[in-house]
Amino acid sequence: MGTPHILAIANQKGGVGKTTTAVNVAAAFAQRGLRTLLVDLDIQGSASATLGAPAVEGAVDVARVLMEERALDTAMVETRLENLWLAPAGEAMALVDLHLASAFGRERVFERTLRCPGVQSMDVVVVDTAPYLGLLTVNALVAAEKVLIPVSCEYLPMLGLKLLGETLQRLRDRAGAKAEVLGYLLTMVDRRERITTEVEDLLRQRFGAAVFDTVIRANTHHKAAPSHQRTIFEHEAEGGRGREDYDGLASEVMSRLGLIGVRRKPLARRAPATGTAKGRRATG
Ligand SMILES: Nc1ncnc2c1ncn2[C@@H]1O[C@H](COP(=O)(O)OP(=O)(O)OP(=O)(O)O)[C@@H](O)[C@H]1O
Ligand SMILES: [Mg+2]
Repeated sequence: MGTPHILAIANQKGGVGKTTTAVNVAAAFAQRGLRTLLVDLDIQGSASATLGAPAVEGAVDVARVLMEERALDTAMVETRLENLWLAPAGEAMALVDLHLASAFGRERVFERTLRCPGVQSMDVVVVDTAPYLGLLTVNALVAAEKVLIPVSCEYLPMLGLKLLGETLQRLRDRAGAKAEVLGYLLTMVDRRERITTEVEDLLRQRFGAAVFDTVIRANTHHKAAPSHQRTIFEHEAEGGRGREDYDGLASEVMSRLGLIGVRRKPLARRAPATGTAKGRRATG
């Protein structure tokens, strides 16, 4: 049994495209046959709203998993998309930060919930996080092997990125987290606008190759898709720019993670946790 790559999507700045990226890159992975779990660690529950079925009375969600220290796979639900599972946030999510504050090993509660067969049988776990650096987000960053940082081309982001960089460094030094930056992703890119060029130049100068070649262009379909509870792949026609951008991002992320970047037939649902997992991961 392989262990999944844990990828957190994080930036404490609000509205930069974290959720849009988490949902659509997860959908793109799933389309390529990777068994993908999207975990919603945001109190707003936006990723859950886009992908989830209406909450079932008494169902386990991520809030309960964290507060009761259960295995995360007890909250996993299949989505309508092949190879894509969701761990929905749940209404009590707003209470979780406070609850974690008094938990034993409070930075590692989320990481502990990942040690279960349902999660370990995934190829990739994508974690959407909240727009603040509270304990919930810290839990996501500590559990993550890699962090993808969306940066919107609508404001000058350097101060916020410095704070995030320092936080990641502290978590590596003091909490033994891996939490390496997989890459910076430019979102809401409109090259006719000066702010886009300014942000792009600044980021590429400062972070060089850590900035993804792929950028996510400004596109009203990204605003509309969630209100129809659709991923961009379900909302846009084939050849649409939003699909193209997130498909390109998925390729780049997979190559940075060392996952096989080819389209394969979707795997059957509920494939056993053991067996062919090895063959799905690039070895070199
Ligand atoms: N490339 C894009 N072009 C146009 N609009 C976009 C794009 N990406 C995201 N949006 C829209 O911008 C808003 C913020 O995006 P999103 O919710 O993904 O950001 P977020 O970082 O998750 O926000 P929060 O910090 O509140 O969780 C949403 O209305 C979304 O539909
Ligand atoms: Mg969000």
